[in-house]
Amino acid sequence: MDRRPYEAKLDLKSPNRNISPITSEIDEQGKLMVGGCLLSALADEYGTPLYVIDENSLRTSCKAYKNSLAEHYEGQSLPLYASKANSSIAISTVICQEGFGLDAVSEGELITALKAGIAGENIVLHGNNKSKEELKLAYEQGVNIVIDNYHDIQLLESIVIDKDRPANIMLRLTPGIECHTHDYIKTGHLDSKFGFDPDQLEDVLIELINKKWALLNGIHAHIGSQIFELEPHRDLASVLADALKLAKSIGHPVKNLNVGGGLGIRYTESDDPPSINEWVKCISTSVSNACKERDLELPRLICEPGRSLIAPAGITLYRIGSRKTIPGIRTYLSVDGGMSDNPRPITYQSLYTACLADRPLNEADETVTIAGKHCESGDVLIQECLLPKSESGELLVVFATGAYNASMSSNYNRIPSPAAVIVGDGMSDLIQQRQKPEDLLSFDLLPKRFER
Ligand SMILES: Cc1ncc(COP(=O)(O)O)c(C=O)c1O
Repeated sequence: MDRRPYEAKLDLKSPNRNISPITSEIDEQGKLMVGGCLLSALADEYGTPLYVIDENSLRTSCKAYKNSLAEHYEGQSLPLYASKANSSIAISTVICQEGFGLDAVSEGELITALKAGIAGENIVLHGNNKSKEELKLAYEQGVNIVIDNYHDIQLLESIVIDKDRPANIMLRLTPGIECHTHDYIKTGHLDSKFGFDPDQLEDVLIELINKKWALLNGIHAHIGSQIFELEPHRDLASVLADALKLAKSIGHPVKNLNVGGGLGIRYTESDDPPSINEWVKCISTSVSNACKERDLELPRLICEPGRSLIAPAGITLYRIGSRKTIPGIRTYLSVDGGMSDNPRPITYQSLYTACLADRPLNEADETVTIAGKHCESGDVLIQECLLPKSESGELLVVFATGAYNASMSSNYNRIPSPAAVIVGDGMSDLIQQRQKPEDLLSFDLLPKRFER
């Protein structure tokens, strides 16, 4: 028998609508492959836990954003990758090759993007408490700096000495739209640490018009993450268009409207996010209509997807170890990673789907709790996971771990960070080395007076 797709109903155009990467296949022996690579072979070669990124899923998602923007938005557009989702030189390089800019929130993310060859003018720096060093680097590299508060204005003013080369800035506002996955609310004021309140907008725009060191070239807002509804984005377009109109009436030459990110993905069967094309169509038509209604020239449309680009491209491989059955209560299967490589379940009670790498289609006949190896009772990756009865030493695949896993990982319990590989066309390449326990000691210092 030939290889066949792992998921029966696969959306090949919008990877965020699948649980597994789009290249997931079952080989002749019934084992799971991704990117043309047998997962058990990857685990043997690189060890576990292992982050695996499917290049094809990532590039397909990038192309879906680019093509949909070209199809649905009449003006110019630039998609940015929200690199907080997963920042590395290799991923940023793929992003750059696909014609994306990048959103960074720290010096680390900024230097990663620059190293990957992304031009400063295609980078946006966010943050509610940027340091002087971060602002200086961003200014020197011609990065667009998103002004989040008055502190940013004061710091930047002290940095920009060459008044002939003003800083390119965007203004972040709190749009008063709060999203949860399945509902949302509109409020006048949102309890958020990010951005200017709508009431402050006029004052800050008036203050900035007199600052020769600043060129306000964009308005930004972001309403949240893992959003399945389209309606909030329509409301956002109106809020942004109002702000654009106000900024222009005050004399700012604003050319960019940045709607942030937020499109959700399918972590479990019950998740049903819109496709990338539907999301882009919605933001494109909403921004166009809102601008036309206000007699505004179409701005360049910027969006900042993170999760929907990289999460569906990623899986994590774990080796199953101990088993503990508490009769009448539950069976714990423990794996060799957990909350240090994926803090989302313990932080947000996030749900995931898993299977056995070498027996993905075997009949699932037991419900187990997948526990991590950390010294924390809450270190559980999946509360209720339906699997075939497994043996210690088998390989577990957790899907959709490409976003906010590696980038939010820690060394809790002094557990080293996993390696990461990128796979495509049957090839695999390391993109992040596995840490060794000794690496974790390399920043420790012993005061002389404690030496014996
Ligand atoms: C300002 C901003 N832009 C973009 C994103 C990316 O969001 P997502 O990963 O949901 O697309 C975030 C994430 O929270 C964000 O804070």
